[in-house]
Amino acid sequence: MSFDPVATLDMSTPAAKRASYELLVAQVRSVLEGERDRLANMAQFAALVFQSVPELNWAGFYLAHGEELVVGPFQGKVACVRIPFARGVCGACARTREIQRVEDVHAFPGHIACDSASNAELVLPVVAGGRLVGVFDLDSPRTARFDADDAHGFAAAVAVLAAGTDWDLQNV
Ligand code: SME
Repeated sequence: MSFDPVATLDMSTPAAKRASYELLVAQVRSVLEGERDRLANMAQFAALVFQSVPELNWAGFYLAHGEELVVGPFQGKVACVRIPFARGVCGACARTREIQRVEDVHAFPGHIACDSASNAELVLPVVAGGRLVGVFDLDSPRTARFDADDAHGFAAAVAVLAAGTDWDLQNV
């Protein structure tokens, strides 16, 4: 299959951003169509987001294994492998199952710095069949990169991924 996403989505105004997230969600549907394998879908999802969303330096998954997160498919620099639920922005998301939107990671108690270039972070829970499968983590070099519209847009994209994928729920 060949697929050419928009090189960089326009997020320069609130209206452009809303349209861009609608396009991103449509692209996620298109990229995942006909495939339910979790590794394949997470890898494609991370690549699509990293390729088309501006001002990111990391985008990828941490998967829940008991009370710990283990790094999964991602795009960006080599990252921390294991994160206990008790630690970091990702741990807070896994514990609460709520989106964590951090404007300045240096002001977040317990933030785990994997890349010194990161200044803002957005972490979304991935929930399927009522279980926390893992989290989708986004880092940006720009402080306050992520606003409520970004959180809303990514939540819609992650929901398409969660519903369109067979997760190994026995091992979560
Ligand atoms: N900053 C995250 C760790 C993961 S990296 O950003 C890829 C955290 O505090 O949980």
